[in-house]
Amino acid sequence: MNVPLRIGFVGGGFITRFHIQSLVEVRGVEVAGVASLTRASAEAAAALARELEVGPKARAYDSVEELAADPAVDAIWVCARNDTRVSTMRSIATGAAKRPPSSPLRGICIEKPLARTLGEAMEVADLAKEIGAPTGYLEDMLWAPALVRGKEVLWRRGAASSGRPYLARAAEEHAGPHSKWFWQPEIAGGGALLDMMCHSIEAARWLLTEPGAPRASLTPLEVSATVANLKWTQPKYAADLAQRFPGVDWAKHHTEDFARATVVWRDETGRTLLTETSSSWCYVGAGLRHNFALLGPEYSLDVDMADTGVRVFFSRNVTGAAGEDLVEKQNAEQGLMPISPNEPAHYGYSGENRHFTRAFARGETPELTAHDGVEVMRILMAAYKSAAEHRSVDPADPALESYRPGSSF
Ligand SMILES: NC(=O)c1ccc[n+]([C@@H]2O[C@H](COP(=O)([O-])OP(=O)(O)OC[C@H]3O[C@@H](n4cnc5c(N)ncnc54)[C@H](O)[C@@H]3O)[C@@H](O)[C@H]2O)c1
Repeated sequence: MNVPLRIGFVGGGFITRFHIQSLVEVRGVEVAGVASLTRASAEAAAALARELEVGPKARAYDSVEELAADPAVDAIWVCARNDTRVSTMRSIATGAAKRPPSSPLRGICIEKPLARTLGEAMEVADLAKEIGAPTGYLEDMLWAPALVRGKEVLWRRGAASSGRPYLARAAEEHAGPHSKWFWQPEIAGGGALLDMMCHSIEAARWLLTEPGAPRASLTPLEVSATVANLKWTQPKYAADLAQRFPGVDWAKHHTEDFARATVVWRDETGRTLLTETSSSWCYVGAGLRHNFALLGPEYSLDVDMADTGVRVFFSRNVTGAAGEDLVEKQNAEQGLMPISPNEPAHYGYSGENRHFTRAFARGETPELTAHDGVEVMRILMAAYKSAAEHRSVDPADPALESYRPGSSF
């Protein structure tokens, strides 16, 4: 790849910064610019790209439409709030229509979750089809080196000699999101289930899928789930949120801070497989709790993402400002703390961006597309419905296409 693929970001927040940092390890790519809600956040993200030398000409754009219309942008990474997915895709469509026919958009990647509901997610996928550019669904866990290596070894030795794995477990928990909008049901669309179980469901599904087999080789048959509010509706913690994020009244107007789901799958030979996933915004530990397991007849895989091999210890006499400079979702500045030598690579962002930029540059279909993001959303909506109705739900139920969890927006 001699000519770099030039990426434009929509949104200039937390995840855009992670992506930009990861690009230091990706060849054949450059940041062209950023369009965000505020000019300041677009300027800040573009400045980071220039500082890290992954976007020498990176600049702020005034609107998503302007970004999408600029022939100096080859592909777009959609990384703004959950409520803006459909409007962002419409703006991309309007902008892309103004491009010279000789330089069409070469790809659009969309962050998880694909939208707030299955209906919106389907609209996002339809708009992508209308635009005509290849799509990518951004799920970094599928490129986390620990999971990639663990899956490869386990299938090559364990599954080849004793049979396929039958149970995958995935959990992702932390102490609660960093931005106000995650705590506003009408903007976020859901809580710990929508925000984090999208990772766990997709990672568990992928671990159970035979390497090289299509994603559709596993069919989800039924979903049973529970959601709860364990911490943040308590008066003390609701008051804490209201102070941090004025206008948030989580005691009255909330989604969920805990979720668990069991999905029954069928493989292409008719065998039954299970995934067990859990997500929460009420875990207090050194940082994220991020665990995976894959079990088969004569073997197992265990991955603890906090086990980075590097720990530091600070005595009670070491004081300093609260931050996230040690590890993502850090909860303390003293005691024994894990640190990651390279967080963007550890969580899979470097591998993810390598995969999607190469696929777009070569005109190939990436491993995960907007269609796959829709399929994840189908399972998440089935989980919400199951929790609300206290019964198992078939993710193929067409009623899910108009389902709105908790009817909070
Ligand atoms: N893959 C992951 O692990 C991961 C991690 C964090 C966030 N995310 C996803 O990324 C998205 C952004 O989350 P975040 O943590 O960066 O949030 P954030 O609050 O840090 O940043 C959101 C950004 O979106 C911008 N924005 C809001 N409305 C916009 C609009 N209409 N047009 C353009 N920009 C707009 C804001 O100005 C801000 O810069 C969410 O959908 C979230 O689920 C994914």
